[in-house]
Amino acid sequence: MRVFLTSIYTFSALIATGFCLTCDHCLYLHGDSCSGFSDKCKEDEICVTKIENATVGNDVRLSVFKGCERYDPRDGNTTIYYSSDKYIFHFYTKYCNEDNCNRRRIRVPVINMTKNGVECPTCYVTGSFECTETGTMKCVGEQEQCLDFSGIMRRPGLPFEKHATRGCVNAGTCEIGFPALKGNTCLQQNRLICL
Ligand SMILES: *[C@@H]1O[C@H](CO)[C@@H](O)[C@H](O)[C@H]1NC(C)=O
Ligand SMILES: *[C@@H]1O[C@H](CO)[C@@H](O)[C@H](O)[C@H]1NC(C)=O
Ligand SMILES: *[C@@H]1O[C@H](CO)[C@@H](O)[C@H](O)[C@H]1NC(C)=O
Repeated sequence: MRVFLTSIYTFSALIATGFCLTCDHCLYLHGDSCSGFSDKCKEDEICVTKIENATVGNDVRLSVFKGCERYDPRDGNTTIYYSSDKYIFHFYTKYCNEDNCNRRRIRVPVINMTKNGVECPTCYVTGSFECTETGTMKCVGEQEQCLDFSGIMRRPGLPFEKHATRGCVNAGTCEIGFPALKGNTCLQQNRLICL
């Protein structure tokens, strides 16, 4: 019996390698839900949903992307949470592995706001590549590094602008960087350092 089941398993695994997943595809720059069209992925891709929340003061800019991507373990099912004195950025990536599994709406998990003992210099400015520190801030949850960014970027629905910011972020964020983002775009990166 066991031999029989094993051979069925092997057989279906062989068939499965020839198949491609079908996933929902959409990009919406003014909110955190969208529905689009269903389309086939490439053979090594799975379904993904990415939600970005780029907030400056009271100006909350949400965006959502759904599509096919190769699984990236660095940002799989995790939230990157960057915070500075004025600018806060959450980036949640959720992968799933069944046809159209990214169709339904997902919510960004609650962020752990417990102070973790790490402190970082903080500042945020637009229109310049340099920002003047406004002191230090206390990092929370998984924020184990201090980030220092300078470049030309755009939050969803806004024009490209010079930006500079420093604050707290999850370890590994600089390795993921802007290429993973869909709603927020970086045109020119002068500095992206996580220490
Ligand atoms: C977006 O981020 C801001 C700042 O952290 C937060 O106050 C707001 O609740 C977030 N909105 C959503 C829909 O996640
Ligand atoms: C991500 O979440 C989905 C759905 O909960 C799960 O099937 C998948 O195994 C998770 N991936 C990782 C790497 O945790
Ligand atoms: C929240 O973050 C704190 C500080 O890093 C940590 O000690 C705690 O275990 C975290 N809680 C959860 C539920 O992950």
